[in-house]
Amino acid sequence: MISHVLPTYNRAPIAFERGEGTWAIATDGTRYLDLGAGIAVNALGHANPELVATLTEQANRIWHVSNLYQIPEQERLADLLVEHTFADTAFITNSGTEAAELAIKMVRKYWHDAGDPDRYEILTFEGAFHGRSTGAIAAAGSEKMVKGFGPLMPGFRQLPWGDMEALKAAISDRTAAVMLEPVQGEGGIRPLSDADLAAIRQLCDQTGTLLVLDEVQSGMGRTGKLFAHEYAGITPDIMMIAKGIGGGFPLGAVLATERAAAGMAAGTHGSTYGGNPLACAVGAKVMQIVAAPEFLAEVNRKAALFRQKLEGLVAAHPDVFDYVRGQGLMLGLKCKVAPGELVKAGYDEHILTVAAADDTLRLLPPLTISDEEIAEAVVRLDRAAGRVDG
Ligand SMILES: Cc1ncc(COP(=O)(O)O)c(C=O)c1O
Repeated sequence: MISHVLPTYNRAPIAFERGEGTWAIATDGTRYLDLGAGIAVNALGHANPELVATLTEQANRIWHVSNLYQIPEQERLADLLVEHTFADTAFITNSGTEAAELAIKMVRKYWHDAGDPDRYEILTFEGAFHGRSTGAIAAAGSEKMVKGFGPLMPGFRQLPWGDMEALKAAISDRTAAVMLEPVQGEGGIRPLSDADLAAIRQLCDQTGTLLVLDEVQSGMGRTGKLFAHEYAGITPDIMMIAKGIGGGFPLGAVLATERAAAGMAAGTHGSTYGGNPLACAVGAKVMQIVAAPEFLAEVNRKAALFRQKLEGLVAAHPDVFDYVRGQGLMLGLKCKVAPGELVKAGYDEHILTVAAADDTLRLLPPLTISDEEIAEAVVRLDRAAGRVDG
């Protein structure tokens, strides 16, 4: 008999009832060191006191207001997003997938209004992940996600990840945009080099193509900059964000330049919940905390410490791990064993990690993880690797 919850997930047999910073506490009282953070969501840890206070205060005032009216909390969040990024404007969503959908619509509308509606092809990359809607699975195009859900939404073409020659050859007068994650998350923590990202920007400029970045996973301080593309010294035309921006409350956004967003006039897009006061109050608080240079400096310091310890872990288990990759606290251990085995061994050692692709163990701790917790994480990962090592 089918479970009452639609069985679309392979769940571990653990349920959590509480969280404290980097720790998730299960219903049986076991404390797990959380290096998954809800897949890069709990950027400021569980039950962060500042976020709890912000959410509670807002909950006591007003929860939901329709976008038929002005929403000051939404305007405040948009102000902060514009102040700290390339963007001139932001649309607030409830998730990364919704942000992907709007980004795709925005690209199409831009070329429609430019009098070039046949210019609708969006170039994406193998290993990409942009969500699970019909548009987002068509964009990523992986067999695993699209099988059985055809016919797919047309207008996407996937290229090999990081293959600049393939990209140059693929851009034509039908190319509307190039869309990519600066560091592929679900694809296995695979960063694009700064040089390649800068070259893609240049290619887009030369051909008038829009550059759409998906920073749903890599954004909000995760890589040590507020957004990962800053390392390459470039800016996109459109950017999707989600996950960390809400610190655990469902929230996302599409950020855009005035030019890229020019077609999105009143009536072209909308959402009942997108931009609600509860989510936006929390998002504005997260932005205030994460965008502070001292906060990002700490992320970088801790990331260097963690990486150094992980290099030691890899050296100690050459049959289990290949190497460390990623940036900041968006780290991946390329594995020589199935990463799922390590995730399971991690449960036995009371540490939470996440598998990515078929060869990577993802480590995405809260950005507030302490030095002691980093040391403890490596001890537990060492023991988990020992279990797999035999
Ligand atoms: C890069 C990227 N884009 C989009 C999404 C989809 O976001 P959501 O699950 O919030 O819809 C994800 C989620 O993992 C992601 O990692």
